[in-house]
Amino acid sequence: MKKILTGIKATGQVHLGNYLGAIKPSVELSKSDKISSYLFIADSHALTSHVSFSQLNQSVYEIGATWLACGLNTEKVFFYRQSDIPELFELYWILSCITPKGLMNRAHSYKDRKEKNIKLGKKDLDDKIYMGLYNYPILMSADILLFSPDEVPVGQDQIQHLEMARDIAGKFNHRYKTDLFVLPKAFLRDKSVVLGLDGQKMSKSYNNTIPLFLDSNKLYKLIRKIKTDSSSLQKKKDTNSCLIFQIYKGFASLEEIDTMKKLYAEGIGWGEAKEILFHKLESYFKEKKEIYNFYVSQPKQLDKLLKQGAEKVRVEASSFLKEIKKVLGF
Ligand code: ADP
Ligand code: TRP
Repeated sequence: MKKILTGIKATGQVHLGNYLGAIKPSVELSKSDKISSYLFIADSHALTSHVSFSQLNQSVYEIGATWLACGLNTEKVFFYRQSDIPELFELYWILSCITPKGLMNRAHSYKDRKEKNIKLGKKDLDDKIYMGLYNYPILMSADILLFSPDEVPVGQDQIQHLEMARDIAGKFNHRYKTDLFVLPKAFLRDKSVVLGLDGQKMSKSYNNTIPLFLDSNKLYKLIRKIKTDSSSLQKKKDTNSCLIFQIYKGFASLEEIDTMKKLYAEGIGWGEAKEILFHKLESYFKEKKEIYNFYVSQPKQLDKLLKQGAEKVRVEASSFLKEIKKVLGF
């Protein structure tokens, strides 16, 4: 059996980028009889964003309900919360002891924060940067390496973290002359990232997202905010540089994409293009939204499913951790 594993960090609402980059490909793969899947909620990773108790819990239930609404079958998939797996945090420490500091210095998230401090003219370039953010890729490596997946479905922005996990796994194997860790590969559905309302990468950190399960009015208002150029009504429009089209093509059929391309060539107005995108997203998520609304109002049921999932994976996690510790001399 081939194994896949992926997680979603529990900060903020799940958006179209998360859906196309991670959730959709993982759920599709998880339906195959030849694949065993580990899909989880990265709630401990969310602590790096200093979320409050209520923000953290709300996000955990929203992500849990989203996974289920998007087709995750708990009979077939290991579905759990990261913080319910204590073995991960022991492995995190073990991996920290063989990870060169220089490798973490190169992580994008850390470098971005340092750049920000430089721009702000701060004397201390590490001002307000915490060790949780700095070590983020090591915990992510533990999430992955503890379960030896062959592939990790993620969006483009997580590729560097995947390379770090491979690097750390290779270092461990080399240092302890073992082949315990499987070197994971990223499963990338699409090389491009989904862009947000302002044209940057769609991300909870940039406040430019379209969440999956908004009510119609809110969705409509957000879509109206998508940045467009000021070209006139009759002018032929370019699909490649248009944010509306780039989002639309993630959800439309090939036939619908062709029709939309024709409309662009004829000079569709931005208002009309936004209208088409709105109806597409409404119909695409209609059924999923009903399932989402059901689960998001049943936190106890979600807790139960996540606990059951954690119990199942902990059997494997604790037995593998014992093997790892044996190699270390414990
Ligand atoms: P965010 O940047 O909004 O905080 P996360 O870091 O929680 O998103 O990402 C969860 C998953 O969704 C990861 O696999 C990530 O690569 C994917 N993802 C996030 N944003 C995008 C995007 N704009 N396009 C494609 N995939 C994305
Ligand atoms: N770092 C990922 C993100 O920000 C979430 C994540 C945590 C993850 N652990 C993981 C993804 C393990 C894949 C595998 O989106």
